Amino acid sequence: MSALLRLLLVEDNPADAALLRESLNDAGGGCFDVTYVDRLSDAIRLLHPALYDAVLLDLTLPDSQGLATLDRICLAAEDLPIIVLTGLDDEAIAIEAVRKGAQDYMVKGQSDSPTLVRALQYAIERAKLQRELHQLNETLEQRVAERTAVAERRARQLRALASQLTLAEQRERRRLARLLHDHLQQLLVGARFHIAALRRRCDGDDLDQAFQQVEDLLAQSIQGSRSLTMELSPPVLYDEGLGPALHWLAHWMFETHHLEVHAAIDPSATVEAEDMRVLLFQAVRELLFNVVKHAQVRDARLSMQRVDGSRVRISVEDAGVGFDPSRTVLVETGSTGLGLFSLGERMEIMGGSMEIQSQPGQGTSVCLFAPVSPSDQEEPHLRLVARGTRPAGTPKPGQ
Ligand SMILES: Nc1ncnc2c1ncn2[C@@H]1O[C@H](COP(=O)(O)OP(=O)(O)OP(=O)(O)O)[C@@H](O)[C@H]1O
Ligand SMILES: [Mg+2]
Repeated sequence: MSALLRLLLVEDNPADAALLRESLNDAGGGCFDVTYVDRLSDAIRLLHPALYDAVLLDLTLPDSQGLATLDRICLAAEDLPIIVLTGLDDEAIAIEAVRKGAQDYMVKGQSDSPTLVRALQYAIERAKLQRELHQLNETLEQRVAERTAVAERRARQLRALASQLTLAEQRERRRLARLLHDHLQQLLVGARFHIAALRRRCDGDDLDQAFQQVEDLLAQSIQGSRSLTMELSPPVLYDEGLGPALHWLAHWMFETHHLEVHAAIDPSATVEAEDMRVLLFQAVRELLFNVVKHAQVRDARLSMQRVDGSRVRISVEDAGVGFDPSRTVLVETGSTGLGLFSLGERMEIMGGSMEIQSQPGQGTSVCLFAPVSPSDQEEPHLRLVARGTRPAGTPKPGQ
């Protein structure tokens, strides 16, 4: 170490101070520039971290004694290395001094000059490294904070996009449903009316049979169109809310797919945000369709209740063939529909979450969690449990 090191020596005994100066000069080869003061108050007045590289401190001074001297100099020295050089030969005080921030604790008369010089040089080098490390940490923390801010902004944008997507999709469904109802269904009803009138005016069994067939076809078309209208966008979701809409869905699944859905809906469980209500409805419909398509059972359980005061939990359970979620669900199929993968993603993005518990032969249970109000939204995370045992308190589907 060849650069000049600036040292503040705080020592009340002038003879000790002169001796120290001399030995530092001899052993240090002139690399120390020593400023000497005999009182703590003078040291604190002079001590500007930019002016010194280290402090050599006696603990017993006219204006301060013991570890209090160290405490006060530490405050003024910021991250300057401090080496205690004192007549107090006490192990406990030495340890406490190092805990409080001293780089070293040396007892007068116990170390030779080269040892003192080495201790000073090492302390200065260590402090320099610590400063660099500290700066590096601060830079890193700043970068992390910047990246976190970017990630949070993106998450907010994504959430807004997902919400718009859900609402736009639903708007389109309603538009189509209205078109079917207001236009196509009216035309079909009109055609049926005219056919019935014609039939009354014509004689002949053959003709009558033909009319009957056309009337039946028209009746089926009207029925199909009505059912499509409902499937696209059930008015109950907008008129009465999520709970009644889920009851309607349970009934509709039985009517159209012969799946008996045992529904237990707590009427006090509500979801304020329209986008989340729509998504939950679509999600339950998808989960019930999955039971129809994959579970090989004729019934399922649907429940909705409020949990933890601020969330709504909806579960769809079946006692069917089950599957391994880790194999199936984590793989994006590229489908644009609401399969389990995209369902989980959308729930997450919009501030909710989805939990799947299933394994082959053990049935399937899918839980959706959604905030009651948008301010209770969770941070995005996907919880997925490929389960060996059902969590305590969860009944087996069908029981
Ligand atoms: N209730 C269930 N019982 C048994 N297997 C299921 C059940 N739900 C999902 N699965 C399995 O998980 C797979 C993924 O389901 P997912 O809903 O993502 O896709 P899909 O129903 O096959 O197709 P899509 O929903 O895109 O029309 C299914 O193919 C099926 O193997
Ligand atoms: Mg599916």
